[in-house]
Amino acid sequence: MLKDKNILIGVTGGIAAYKIPSLVRDFKQGGANVRVVMTESAREFVTPLTLSTLSGNEVILGTFPQASSNVMKAGTWHIDFGTWADIMVIAPATANVMAKLAHGYADNAVTTLALAVRCPIVISPAMDVDMWQHSATQENVSKLREMGYIILPPEEGELASGLSGPGRLPELSSIITAVNNVVSKVHKNLQGKRILVTAGPTHEAIDPVRYLGNRSSGKMGFAIANAAAQRGASVTLIAGNVRLQTPRNVHRIDVERADEMYDAVMKYRKKMDAVIMAAAVADFAPATTSSKKIKKETSRDGHLILPLKKTKDILGRLGEMKNGNVLVGFSLETHNELTNAKKKLREKNLDLVVLNNPTEEGAGFGADTNVVTIISKNGKIERLKTMSKFDVAERILDRVAIMLNRHHR
Ligand code: CTP
Repeated sequence: MLKDKNILIGVTGGIAAYKIPSLVRDFKQGGANVRVVMTESAREFVTPLTLSTLSGNEVILGTFPQASSNVMKAGTWHIDFGTWADIMVIAPATANVMAKLAHGYADNAVTTLALAVRCPIVISPAMDVDMWQHSATQENVSKLREMGYIILPPEEGELASGLSGPGRLPELSSIITAVNNVVSKVHKNLQGKRILVTAGPTHEAIDPVRYLGNRSSGKMGFAIANAAAQRGASVTLIAGNVRLQTPRNVHRIDVERADEMYDAVMKYRKKMDAVIMAAAVADFAPATTSSKKIKKETSRDGHLILPLKKTKDILGRLGEMKNGNVLVGFSLETHNELTNAKKKLREKNLDLVVLNNPTEEGAGFGADTNVVTIISKNGKIERLKTMSKFDVAERILDRVAIMLNRHHR
């Protein structure tokens, strides 16, 4: 599987760096081409000479490569490496390097490359148990996951410090399997396709301080955008009001209200091969928005009447205008699920509808997993087991890719 693949290994300064020469050797034995970049502190644990001998390539040690390199290339090496690599593996990744990556630093060869490459990046953290469990580290890890980095959780066991717990670099065979899986997933079956994804809730202003909203977190739509970008699609993500990191290689546009989302979708839809409407668009918005804060005295007999108007149905409109592109909708139902979802599929002229029920176990707002049923235009109904939102995204995209590749044949 790894034969002729170009693997870029970023080594950072943790004790587990002593295992990386074996990893390089194993990748090479699997037929891969390997290049190594190191941080300065990594050199305290493993020598560049060992890594360059085993990889058969010069090791990059700093942002400004050594005088021995081709001087003309010295300023653009990170771009050259970026286009060369099929995958980048950062192992071991220290708490420090993850903190930097989570904030976009480019202060050494490894962090600079991580920003410059477009290929998938696998991060294999290894550190002491307390550093791993620290809330700052955990927050950075979640951010990196949202951005589309693939994190291999450290294994439990005895650590170099003598303590035991999670923090060990996984067995090299597990790292190789994970890299294999990622490389094999990069089937690039959406390469060159343009995909529009919407995600998250809209907020409909009542007055300058209040709004009508819903409990959507946007995680499902962001997972779809992330997975589509990893398959090589050019992804535009129109996001409602979410607190999520933008996935790598995704063009994000933020909107607030349903009418803004409508305008943004109409603006970007024309060039798209597929549109996936995962957003929780408000069905109703206040008929008028008060320019001043509504005071309590406005109420009559203890009631405030707030007239609402229907918003425009974006998906319905896309269905009417459909012209060879693939259209996917979501259907959030708490009862008569299948009947309602099938009705949406038919009435909105969709190719797929993804049905979910937020009251089911393993599904729901803000959760990292989902339980969905995918219904296709041809009547096929598939209920998927509980899985991560990223895996649900993959299943949806598998079907979108088949339809797109059929359309364009
Ligand atoms: N949607 C949309 N525009 C709206 C409301 C919803 O494009 N104004 C999209 C959502 O992004 C989702 C799908 O429509 O993909 C289903 O949303 P839902 O609110 O469940 O469906 P409705 O058709 O509004 O029907 P109902 O209120 O009967 O559930």
